[in-house]
Amino acid sequence: MELGPGAFHLPHYLSIEWQAALLAQCRALADGDVPAYVPVVRGGGRMHVRMLCLGRHWNAKTYQYEAARADFDGLAAPALPDDFRRLATAIAASVGMAIDPDLCILNYYDAEGRMGLHQDKDEGPASIAAGIPVVSVSLGDTARFLFGGLKRREPIEAIQLESGDAFVFGGPARLRYHGVSRITPHTAPTELGITGRFNLTFRQYDI
Ligand code: SIN
Ligand code: MN
Repeated sequence: MELGPGAFHLPHYLSIEWQAALLAQCRALADGDVPAYVPVVRGGGRMHVRMLCLGRHWNAKTYQYEAARADFDGLAAPALPDDFRRLATAIAASVGMAIDPDLCILNYYDAEGRMGLHQDKDEGPASIAAGIPVVSVSLGDTARFLFGGLKRREPIEAIQLESGDAFVFGGPARLRYHGVSRITPHTAPTELGITGRFNLTFRQYDI
């Protein structure tokens, strides 16, 4: 389902078995030796997600990528698992785009979780200029995903991202504004046994 040049919503991309396996990996990572945490951004506000960056860390104070979490505990970002990388590459390929991701931001949203409208523009300038996509995968409760234009004031569309859905924005859509306005509790597939939502966004910093 194309939402405009370079932007694709792929409902039910992952089978329920695949979702369960990926969810187990996400949980183990989020509660692992380098745990997910609630970042505090440069204005001093706490984000409304728990975040864990894999492959490269996004510093919430500087909005720059780095190897270790200087804005939190100084621990090195865990490696990006190979099967995560392959998943993102396959999703992008299914809509005719190419990515060899070197990082993933894993976010956990509880019932109050949300994310304000923003652009993903902290990756390498060559990567952004080339339109290498951001690839997103959702697990758990449904999110109301906001998808706007290249300027903050352009019209915004609301899309329900359900468990197992993928979303890709690259090429001319790479810098479109987006966010999450709400999570709808109790909408996750019961088989998954999850409260809340994980979202993975894969990006390629270096090209
Ligand atoms: C993000 O923009 O980084 C997250 C998007 C989402 O949770 O769907
Ligand atoms: Mn984003």
